[in-house]
Order: sequence, then structure tokens, then C-alpha cells
Amino acid sequence: MSISIKTQEEIEGMRIAGRLGAEVLDYITPFVKAGVTTGELDRLCHEYMVNVQGTVPAPLNYAPPGYPPFPKAVCTSVNDVICHGIPGDKVLKNGDSVNIDVTVITKDGFHGDNSRMFLIGEPSIQARRLSEITYECMWLGISKVKPGAHLGDIGAVIQQHAEKNGFSVVREFCGHGIGRVFHEEPQVLHYGRPGTGEELKAGMIFTIEPMINAGRREIREMPDGWTIKTKDRSLSAQWEHMILVTETGYEVLTTSAGAPAPPAIVQQNDAVAA
Ligand code: MF3
Ligand code: CO
Ligand code: CO
Repeated sequence: MSISIKTQEEIEGMRIAGRLGAEVLDYITPFVKAGVTTGELDRLCHEYMVNVQGTVPAPLNYAPPGYPPFPKAVCTSVNDVICHGIPGDKVLKNGDSVNIDVTVITKDGFHGDNSRMFLIGEPSIQARRLSEITYECMWLGISKVKPGAHLGDIGAVIQQHAEKNGFSVVREFCGHGIGRVFHEEPQVLHYGRPGTGEELKAGMIFTIEPMINAGRREIREMPDGWTIKTKDRSLSAQWEHMILVTETGYEVLTTSAGAPAPPAIVQQNDAVAA
């Protein structure tokens, strides 16, 4: 199997899916406050998708080989949860950090997958730094995307930035190709060496979604079959965008009015390159 090149029609469908996925995160943002439960955030996102957007939450009942069906509409990963947290009666409190990961399926069958970090009240300096550096890692990865570049260029810049700042990169989960299928080729590793891996071509679409730990990189799987935590109980952060490889570089598909701007570290690099 190889990496699919999307047709113009598929690209149009994925632009819509990406925007709708991002708009769910815009919608939920004002609700992400101390006192709310992760289950309530899930319920609100689910209702917005189904009743306002006419989309379907891809995670609900999603069951890759070896996994039980995912029971909720979004993933909510709090503090030392790395990814795939299941929304429930957990109450968010001052100082928590939470990743909300939303994937919509549009009426035309296209997936829009993205996630953001939310910091509750007054987070610790470490929680803020971890989220910020992880955001920079994602964007440094995005900024490498263009035809002729290699997947390893993305992984290398992410790993370098995370480790330079004293953090570690989770190895067991990665970005992925996406389209009418939720998870397809390629695997987009968040570590590696420049010049290695598949060469990027215009029309490829994949996510970049680094999971970065404040402590060691090792993971622990919870008995629910989904929730992944840091083994050393250190904080973990993640950001995710869905990217199209264009003739000249990249297009971020998961954009919306409320999506945070690229970090200065990428704007400066791009200004130098231009
Ligand atoms: N949205 C996640 C990703 O970025 C996948 C979640 S699978 C689920 O790939 F079933 F847990 F929702
Ligand atoms: Co993804
Ligand atoms: Co996701």
C-alpha cells in the first residue's frame, strides 16, 4: 500500500471537514472552565456536531483491531493522560490542563481531525511551558511540509525542539494519513532523522499531532482499553492539525476563526525563508 494523493474533489471535501472539526473546538472553548465535567464537554460537542453541523463524531464506537468500541464523541485527556481519555464524571479544576480531540465526519464522508490544549484557571509554569513548547513542536513540524521533503524532517524537528527543552516525545502514537478513512497511511512519527522516510507529494493529507511529556516518554495503558497515561505520572500535552501538501508547501485544513495563531518561532522562520 502507498500514500494516497487526493483528487481536487477530495481536497475540497477535506477543507470543509477540517473547518468543521476546528469549529467544534471554537464552540467548546468558553465551556472549558473549572467545575465542568469532561462528560458535559463531550455532550456539548456531540450535540453541536449532530444538531448544528450535521456531522457525525468519528470516535463514537470506533473500534480498531484490539480495541473495544470508543464510547464517547470526543477524547478528553487531562494532566498525565497522554491521549484517548474517555469523557466522564471527572470535574476540571483550577490548574488542570486538558486536550480535547475532535474528529467529525461530514455528510460527504470526509474526516476532520484536530485537537487543542486548554489550561484551566492558573496553571503551573510547567503546564504552560509544556503546552507552549508542544504547540511550537506541532508548528515546526508543519513548517517542514512541502513536496520533496521527507516525513523524517517533520519528526526530527519536533523531537529536537521537545528534547532541547527537557521534554520527551511519545513513540507509541503518531500522526496519520486521513480522508474518507480515519487512519490511513502514512504514519507520521514525531521523532526521527531528516531526509528519512517517505517523500512528500502534493495532494497528500495527514495529521501532525505530537504528544510531549514533561518527564519520561514511557506510557501506561489503563484497563478501559483506551486511556493512555505517562508511566511516571508527569504531565503530557498534545496539539493536532490536519495538513494538505500543496505544490509550494502546506495548507492547514483545520482552520477556523478561533484557532490560535502560529507561534512566533514559526512566523520568524518563515519570514527569514521568504
Ligand atoms: N482523534 C484521534 C487521532 O488524532 C483518534 C482518536 S480514536 C478514538 O487520531 F477512538 F479514541 F477516538
Ligand atoms: Co489524528
Ligand atoms: Co485527533
